[in-house]
Amino acid sequence: MENQILVIFGASGDLTKRKLIPSLFQLYEKGMLPKKFAILGVARSAYRDEQYRELLKDAFIKYTKPEEEAIVKFGEFLNLVYYQSLETTNPESYEPFKLRLQEMSTSLEIPDNYLYYLSTPPTLYEVIPKGLKAQGLHKESAFTGFRRIIIEKPFGYDLKSAQKLHKVLKGVFQESQIYRIDHYLGKETVQNILVLRFANGIFENLWNRNFIERVEVTAIENLSIEGRGGYYDKAGALRDMVQNHLAQLVALTAMEPPSVFNAESFRNEVVKVYQAFRPMSDVDIRNNVVRGQYLASTTAKGENRGYREEEGVDALSRTETYLAMKLYIDNFRWQGVPFYIRTGKQMPTKVSEIVIHFKPLAHRLFKCAGCGCNSCTKLIIRIQPDEGIQIKFGVKIPGSGFSVHQASMDFKYENVPSFSFIDAYSRLLLDGMQGDSTLFTRTDAVETSWAFFDSVLKLWEKDPEFPLYGYPAGTWGPKEADALIPDSYWTNPCKNLTNTDLYCEL
Ligand code: BG6
Repeated sequence: MENQILVIFGASGDLTKRKLIPSLFQLYEKGMLPKKFAILGVARSAYRDEQYRELLKDAFIKYTKPEEEAIVKFGEFLNLVYYQSLETTNPESYEPFKLRLQEMSTSLEIPDNYLYYLSTPPTLYEVIPKGLKAQGLHKESAFTGFRRIIIEKPFGYDLKSAQKLHKVLKGVFQESQIYRIDHYLGKETVQNILVLRFANGIFENLWNRNFIERVEVTAIENLSIEGRGGYYDKAGALRDMVQNHLAQLVALTAMEPPSVFNAESFRNEVVKVYQAFRPMSDVDIRNNVVRGQYLASTTAKGENRGYREEEGVDALSRTETYLAMKLYIDNFRWQGVPFYIRTGKQMPTKVSEIVIHFKPLAHRLFKCAGCGCNSCTKLIIRIQPDEGIQIKFGVKIPGSGFSVHQASMDFKYENVPSFSFIDAYSRLLLDGMQGDSTLFTRTDAVETSWAFFDSVLKLWEKDPEFPLYGYPAGTWGPKEADALIPDSYWTNPCKNLTNTDLYCEL
């Protein structure tokens, strides 16, 4: 890996303190950082390097509750960290920033390879690149080192704003320099979808409309919006989770195998899935999209605030904290197979999983005894927690007769002691440092995905009376979501959309 300087804009923000710095520290501990490497934190406040290091240390202790040994190691890691104050909207402020970068390159003997990370509010995505350009800090040439920029979602607020943002970014950087991070793609278990599908003989042959009845993609959380009301109330579940994370999970589940595995081929296949999403009319949206918002409740954990009581949230807010949706992919492989996606805040548990429901056999020979035996065969890709893969299938209940019971075979990553995970941000930061853009989202993917989901946002905007169902915080979301699944699929009495497979045990 080339030696380089990582510049983090938004250096005193939450994401930097909670995610980026701990992930970089993880890479440091594992000896995975470049030999010569420095981090330059950039924000408005006027800190000295030492003050900034103290601030990071306090945050590290607060958020990760480390052992004494880790605190000492973190102290060593902080020697790689520097700070520069910059008023991002003031073009003059970029000159001292440039000088600081040059001075660091010289004194630390690091070539001028710069990786910029925008951990800032999205409003600055259009400002900072222009500031960098004005100082020539964007250009790669035979004489300069590399210049890459990583940006965090949201990539636009809808299709139009995404296109506008891309225009600005493309006015400064080449596509090959832009790394749009979607931390779901950094998760090992998400990458494992590709290995499961494309490195095993048994699954791929069945991976199509002839054998699969439906696919469910779930990413639910038992957390509230955690003090992010200002952001979340303008975003909602569709923008926060669906257009990006859930769309990626659908893409990886549905894509065709690329002929070779590299950034271009892989990302071409992702875009083709988005292009094949069947566009929805207003009527389709009314029939296939259910949104909800959590209400105040009392659960075993205690009193839960309703969404509208959260700080920074409008008292009459109609922002969705839950979304369930049925979509179709119009291509040869998936024609007619519904994909059910859902996400929600303040649900009973935190789980992200993909469930592939295989078609039941045409003729039922044996008696069903309990949950799941009519449509016995399922493949569950557990993204988190309990990272792993589970296959559910029917087995004979011992004794007389031929009754079927649903059994399962489990693979859990945690049972393989030699596997060690690095977290999603560490993996993606490493890829950014190495210039591997495979797991980053390309402009056309963002726009194609937006083109599909935009119609939902437009209808909500046009019809403020579009139903928004309440669900008590800590429950499985609005009952209305169950109606998305046709009665004929209720082959499993324990299963419905307001529950997850995790809890569908006998
Ligand atoms: C983020 C969303 O992108 O993903 C959050 O902004 C959400 O609202 C988070 O909580 C979920 O990520 P994970 O990795 O915890 O499933």
